[in-house]
Formats: sequence, C-alpha cells, structure tokens
Amino acid sequence: MSTAKQKLYIFDTTLRDGEQSPGCSMNLKEKLLVAEQLELLNVDIIEAGFAASSPGDFESVREVARRTKKAAVATLCRCLAKDIDVGWQAVREAKRPCLHLFLATSPLHMQYKLKMSPEAVYEQAVAMVTHARKLCPEVEFSCEDASRSEPDFLHRVVEGVIRAGAKVVNLPDTVGYAMPEQYAAMIRSVLARVPNAGEAILSVHCHNDLGLAVANSLAAVQAGARQVECALNGIGERAGNAALEEIVMALRTRPDCFAVATEVDATRLYNASRCVISATGSRIQANKAIVGENAFAHEAGIHQHGVMAHAGTYEIMTPESIGVPRNRMVLGKHSGRHAFESRLQDLGFHCEAARIQELFAEFKVLADRKKTVSDADIEALARGSAGRDEEHVKLERFVVQSGNDIPATCTIALQKEGQTARHSATGDGPIDAAFKAIEGILGFTLALEAFTLSSVTGGEDAQGEASVKVRRGERIYNGHGLSTDVVEASIKAYLSAVNALLSDEKK
Ligand code: KIV
Ligand code: ZN
Repeated sequence: MSTAKQKLYIFDTTLRDGEQSPGCSMNLKEKLLVAEQLELLNVDIIEAGFAASSPGDFESVREVARRTKKAAVATLCRCLAKDIDVGWQAVREAKRPCLHLFLATSPLHMQYKLKMSPEAVYEQAVAMVTHARKLCPEVEFSCEDASRSEPDFLHRVVEGVIRAGAKVVNLPDTVGYAMPEQYAAMIRSVLARVPNAGEAILSVHCHNDLGLAVANSLAAVQAGARQVECALNGIGERAGNAALEEIVMALRTRPDCFAVATEVDATRLYNASRCVISATGSRIQANKAIVGENAFAHEAGIHQHGVMAHAGTYEIMTPESIGVPRNRMVLGKHSGRHAFESRLQDLGFHCEAARIQELFAEFKVLADRKKTVSDADIEALARGSAGRDEEHVKLERFVVQSGNDIPATCTIALQKEGQTARHSATGDGPIDAAFKAIEGILGFTLALEAFTLSSVTGGEDAQGEASVKVRRGERIYNGHGLSTDVVEASIKAYLSAVNALLSDEKK
C-alpha cells in the first residue's frame, strides 16, 4: 500500500451474507477452508456468520473466531440483547472480536417489517449498542436499508450510535436500489452533517439487484467511506453482494481515482475464488470480471495480435496479478513427488506431509488415465480433498448400463463399516440410477437440491468435476467429486455429501 494513501478496510461477508444466499450454504469444514483463504488474502474483518440464528452457525462462528490469527472476526446480531449475548459467546475467543448489530431505519422497513416507530428504533439502536459495548470493544452498527431512509432520521441514528460507542457505522444499500451518485451523496451528507461522524469508520454494503453493487461501493469510497463490505465471487442475498475481487482490483488498477488503498494480497484472489466455488458448489459465469474463466482470454484475432505486440493494448491487469497459475511444464505419470509437491506450493496449497502423500497418490491415478495433468487438474484435486470428511462409506466399484431405449441401471458396491454392501437400482439416466443405488445401501433417501457437472480442462480426457447439494430434513450437505468418468465423479460427489452427513450424525 502506498504510504500516501489512507487504508480502506475490507470487511468480508462471504461466510454470512454470502452463505445465507440460496445454493451457497457451507458446512463447518468448508467455512474453515474459506476463512483460511480470507486470512491469506489479508482481509481486515471476517464476518463468520449469524451466531444466534442456529446452533450450527454458532459453532462455525466460534471455530472461525478461535482459529483466525490476524483478521477481526465479526458476527451479525439483531438489535436484541439475547442475540448480542449469544454473539459475544461465539466471538469472544477471537484475537479481535467484533459484534455487528443491525436495525432497519427506512420508513418502509420500520412500519411494515419492524412495526416500530422511528423513536423506538432510535432508542433500541442506542440501547443495544450501549449493551454490546459493555461486552466487546469493537461494535459495528448497520442502518439496514440506509439508502431508502429519511436523511434527517438516518443522521440522528448515526450520531446516536456513535455516541453510544459504535466504532463502525455501516450504511447498506440493502435492496440494491441506489444509483452511484445518490449513494455517494448519502455518504457525503453523513460526513458533512453528523457532528461526530469523524469518530467512526463509515462502511458501505451494497447489493447487486441492479448490477450496481461494485459501482455503488466505489462511488461511496470516493465520497469518503473507509470500509467496504463485500463477498468473494459476489455471492450474497438475491443478486449478491459487491464482489471482493472486483473492489480490490478496481482500487489497484485505478489508483489514480482513489485516495485509499486496501492491504489485500491480490495474488491470492484466484485461489480464494476457486475455494469458494468448491466450498459452495456454486459456479461463476465464464465472463465474470477478474476470476471468470474468460476474464483474461483473448479470442478475437485482432485482440490476440494486439496483446502479443504489447500486453497493455487489451489487458489492463495481468493474470499473474490475481494469482492465475501460469502455464508451466505439464506433469505426467513419470513426474516425481518432489515436482508434484513444488507445483502444489506454487499453486498456493501448503499442505501437511500426510495430505501431500494422499494427493500424490490421487495424482498418480489421474496421470495413468490422462496424458497430461494440468495445473487446473492439480488445483481441482487439492480443492476436492480439502476438508474431506471421514469416509464412512467408500466406493469399491460400480457398473452402469444405459441407452436411449432401455432404463438406466446401476449396480454399486460400497465399503461400509468394514463390509462390502451392494445394491442395484434403475433411474432416469445412469447418474440418477447410481444415486438411487447408493440410497438403497444407506436405507434412507436424500433430496437432491443441486447438481452440477463441469469439465476441469478441455480435451477428450478432461476430468469431470461434479458438485451435489443434498438435504436431509433441515440440513444441507455439499459434496464434490472428480474423475475422468462423469458417472464416477458424480458418485464420488454424492458419497462425499453422504460422508459429511454421516459425520454430522455421528457428532
Ligand atoms: O444488506 C444488508 O442490509 C445487510 C445488513 C444486515 C448489514 O446484510
Ligand atoms: Zn446484505
């Protein structure tokens, strides 16, 4: 960071706002892997969840708080003493605990959702910030739906909560309704008209309903906001939150436009983004800014020619600046453990010896099936095995039979409790048949909430990467599987979700 610039704080909400969006739920292990990436990125605050919302959320906030070494760890709390007390129990072991309180301040929310008068909202906000400050030195207060709040009332609440001890005041565009200039004007008016505004950090939190979350956040930064709340890959409620990688790279690529800079290590962005994809099973579009598959691909001949003559013609950032792995010597079945280990490290995976050994064994199996193993393949292996649960059930073998005029059948043999268990089932295609055969062995059914299959690289021998999300009762489990055979990748993904479920039930 340039010394002339003030710091812009990055408050990451991938594990809270991001995780609460449909299709992005994560289990504890997955959340810990994402938190590890957030630490490597060097974000300032990790919002680890909403501790009072469920025992599972409480446990994950507490675990992230215990393990995080540098960043502050925040939990969201409604403006209620019981939420704040539970939230404090979850974050108190963090090096820098933070309680993040919110209460809506817009007429619409106060009248219809909260059914509270503005006076009651003001009193509650001040009283709960006072309560939270007795427990925790770092308290943030969010005026939910700030962008649709009456300016005079908003100013009064901001002044009141700062006086009560809030260190950060967040002014969210909760429904993604603001236009950049309007949102910037709101920040400017708070700074100009709230007498004690200088005693707190002003934060922004924008949703992407009109595709303006990043534009609004950046306009607010230019107007004087000193913290941005954002999420990796832009995940979050509805259309999502401002994408962390886009905020960070806009500030880095256009330093001429900003008086502030972040301390995020941009070279970790690519890995962190991939980690969120595999933890949530939620993919990103190919043309997604910064981390999409095509973000640095030049297809048109005229562009390719320009880039070869001078990269700056069509490239405003380099792939290396966000940590996209460079094309290096490909590894194959004759590559040794040493070369494999050093490639893993180059790709940002610093694993313990036992895990390297496991990954190396998987790499050898893959190298036998595939002519060349690319960086993308190795990354997929490392991501896939990270956070893996104990294998209560394990694939031994399977046979599928399918065609266009016969029902698909799968016979599967699993290792379960030290024994081989077999089952056959028919289904709507070989993958459905395989999932039904697994359920036949388990003796219970699961609701398949999401299933995706994609190829890790191009080419005929490409690996297929399958992700599933299954539900049993209230609980959701994600699973991922890799193989050059798509049915096998799908079976492995299903079994990894089943193993997460069985580990959970064992607990
Ligand atoms: O969008 C929003 O207003 C929020 C608050 C709880 C910060 O997520
Ligand atoms: Zn939000």
